[in-house]
Amino acid sequence: MSHEAHESNEPETPYLDFAGTTPYEDYIQADVLTHLQHTRSDDPGEMVFLVTTQVMELWFTVIVHEWETASRALRGDDVPTAVAALKRSVRELDALNASWRPLGQLTPAQFNSYRAALGEGSGFQSAMYRRMEFLLGEKSSSMLVPHRGAPRVYAELEKALEEPSLYDEVLRLLARRGHAVPEAVLKRDVAQKYVPSPEVEAVWTALYAGDEGDELARLGEALTDVAELVWRWRNDHLVATRRAMGAKTGTGGSAGVAWLEKRAQKNVFPELWTARSHV
Ligand code: HEM
Repeated sequence: MSHEAHESNEPETPYLDFAGTTPYEDYIQADVLTHLQHTRSDDPGEMVFLVTTQVMELWFTVIVHEWETASRALRGDDVPTAVAALKRSVRELDALNASWRPLGQLTPAQFNSYRAALGEGSGFQSAMYRRMEFLLGEKSSSMLVPHRGAPRVYAELEKALEEPSLYDEVLRLLARRGHAVPEAVLKRDVAQKYVPSPEVEAVWTALYAGDEGDELARLGEALTDVAELVWRWRNDHLVATRRAMGAKTGTGGSAGVAWLEKRAQKNVFPELWTARSHV
């Protein structure tokens, strides 16, 4: 037997000796992950700010993966695989939103203790968040500009800008299933921000007025769950920001809370919300 632990009298003792790094390390890379916390101030509260932001970046990464899986499945007319990925993302969005807890009640004095260390750094420069927004249909080529200095990030973001969003894929599938999605929507320039359409609203209205167990109605509900939780993330961020810095200018150069308020007003998958008034 190659493992020392199993030579002891305790048969359930885990393996202890490995020739190199542990198989856990080889898979998880915990040593890499737990040495990426380079705080920039002496303030003991900076660590949780840095780690919460890193944790959120990891959740963004998983959620982008799920939505890309869903997009691909929709392109291949595989609605169950798409809905399963969207449902996983809903649980992940719940976990993402729960990670506001350690930062949600910062006082201005607490935030000030390390704010200067951020320099001009801001979540606004998060490329993974931007990929989430692009997948939701919030396209904007100017959002690529901050990433010009990072070729890999830029290339990934540019690809995401030019690809159909998750919502574009949903609408194309609805059209293939015989629903009256206008040509102008199907042929739209997908690198532009999605603009709501009354005809698309009518398609969702008809689907919601029909059988609730219908595959496409269930797809609509999974998308609505996603939209609600993204809206919640934006609003939790807004309130945390208002508590931590009032109406001060953001480190990223925006008007701060006033700018975030405008962003938080936007509805994800707009017709899924407006259709509800007509069912
Ligand atoms: C309480 C701590 C936080 C404050 C006070 C704060 C403040 C701000 C402000 C003022 C902006 C607007 C852009 C600017 O001028 O900087 C912003 C944007 C942003 N922040 Fe935060 N933030 C906080 C925590 C976080 C965390 C933990 C994340 C996670 C990654 C995050 C992600 C973002 C993103 C993605 C944007 C861009 C939103 C958009 O483009 O619509 N923020 N933040």
